[in-house]
Amino acid sequence: MKTLSPSDVNSLPAGGSDPLRFDWKEGWYPVHYVSDLDKSKPTPFTLLAIDFVIWWDSTASCWRVFEDKCPHRLAPLSEGRIADDGLLECPYHGWAFSGEGQCDRIPQQVEDLAAQASKRTCVVSLPTAERQGLLFAYPGLPENASRTPVPIIEALEESPSEWVCIDTFRDLPYDALTLLENVIDASHIPYTHHRSVGNRSFAGPVELEVKESGKQGFQGVWESGPRLGTLGQQDTTFLAPGLMWHDLTSKQFGRTLTVVYATPIRKGSCRIFARFPFKFSSKVPGLFMKLTPRWFSHIGQNAVLEDDQIFLHHQERTYTTKKMKVSFPNHQSPVASII
Ligand code: FES
Ligand SMILES: [Fe+2]
Repeated sequence: MKTLSPSDVNSLPAGGSDPLRFDWKEGWYPVHYVSDLDKSKPTPFTLLAIDFVIWWDSTASCWRVFEDKCPHRLAPLSEGRIADDGLLECPYHGWAFSGEGQCDRIPQQVEDLAAQASKRTCVVSLPTAERQGLLFAYPGLPENASRTPVPIIEALEESPSEWVCIDTFRDLPYDALTLLENVIDASHIPYTHHRSVGNRSFAGPVELEVKESGKQGFQGVWESGPRLGTLGQQDTTFLAPGLMWHDLTSKQFGRTLTVVYATPIRKGSCRIFARFPFKFSSKVPGLFMKLTPRWFSHIGQNAVLEDDQIFLHHQERTYTTKKMKVSFPNHQSPVASII
């Protein structure tokens, strides 16, 4: 069995080294499918309540993730442009930045001054990595990034050409943790997704036997598996802070993974990257899937996400309100206390 903690002695576990605390900044997060990014313009994104801008650095041939905040007057750099010389240019006064976050140009600067050499004119640039078609960013201490494993699906590395993968992503109106809790809750599928990917007649006990667990996540097996045992056992892995996948091999469909990355945007909001890699015993279904236009499969996948969305949004809202009530003494309602 694959162990959840990094095996290399030089590796750092996601979440930092304190065994009693998980530091959410110390981890790699997927922020975009690379194929959806536009090299000609900056793309905004929010991670852990901090605004970032993604842009293509043609000089270094790599994607950059900067804090979306010009060091001059705090204008969002995502509203800027990639200048002809490949620098990221602020839209307000035209300061321009190179890939490491260094200010390279201040158009209004008087002769003999070199304000761009000051550390105060630099933008925060996050470490980035491209793996399995995703762009990842590391919001923690930059010196920890190269020692912290990027959360990927190892099975896809073993025989990449044998997999056919359907990908989708969407920003959801609930927390990353609410999403992950929903993915582990296989018992909802027959009801919530009746007639999309489930059927009420398949409802039954769901007993996940946890084989390994700790600060870095857990691994478990559901012996009887989905559809009342007609497909075989399903394995589930969670790699903290945001990756969970189910692994199912059946006579009917071959090997199927259901992979979910939950990237926290801010409280009450997350971005899902859902990946469905299939390894079929025959070539026909894979060929059919490759020929299906992406927009068409997105319609179906978004419909499945919408099956849950209203429940999860309301569930989280009610839960959050309850927690607020507990923290307000003297029988006051939260609203009354705030007023
Ligand atoms: S705010 Fe960016 S150049 Fe002035
Ligand atoms: Fe669901």
